[in-house]
Amino acid sequence: MSNPQPDSARERLIKAAQQAMKNAYAPYSHFKVGAALLTSSGEIITGCNVENASYGVTNCAERTAVFSAVAQIGPQMEISAIAIVNDHDAPCSPCGACRQVIYEFGPKATVYFLSAKGWTELPITALLPEGFRLQ
Ligand code: THU
Repeated sequence: MSNPQPDSARERLIKAAQQAMKNAYAPYSHFKVGAALLTSSGEIITGCNVENASYGVTNCAERTAVFSAVAQIGPQMEISAIAIVNDHDAPCSPCGACRQVIYEFGPKATVYFLSAKGWTELPITALLPEGFRLQ
């Protein structure tokens, strides 16, 4: 079961993600990404990618948003939807690590992203079947 959102929620999330994307730190890939998530209690929290000279410790926009939401709201925070944008208008779905992190806090989350077919809306469970849970 996913969490379909009205179109207006989707548009608000996309706008918030575009705003957050402006803060991206992407001097290595030159690929700026923004993410905005909606919590089940109605807050919108954003994130951007933050790269590092040691490439492997780069943080994606999606994880920045989720970790910020936990830091600002608390660990009970639940993701209802998340939108991801990039500055190349390129197909960009969350990476595997981000899918697992979104699933942890939003097993029913709806994910909005640009695919090769245009704007796409999928439940996180379609992007991450059999996601891992300890509880
Ligand atoms: N990136 C994200 O922030 N989110 C995605 O969904 C895909 C990739 C970032 C990581 C890196 O800073 C840059 O995009 C190029 O991979």
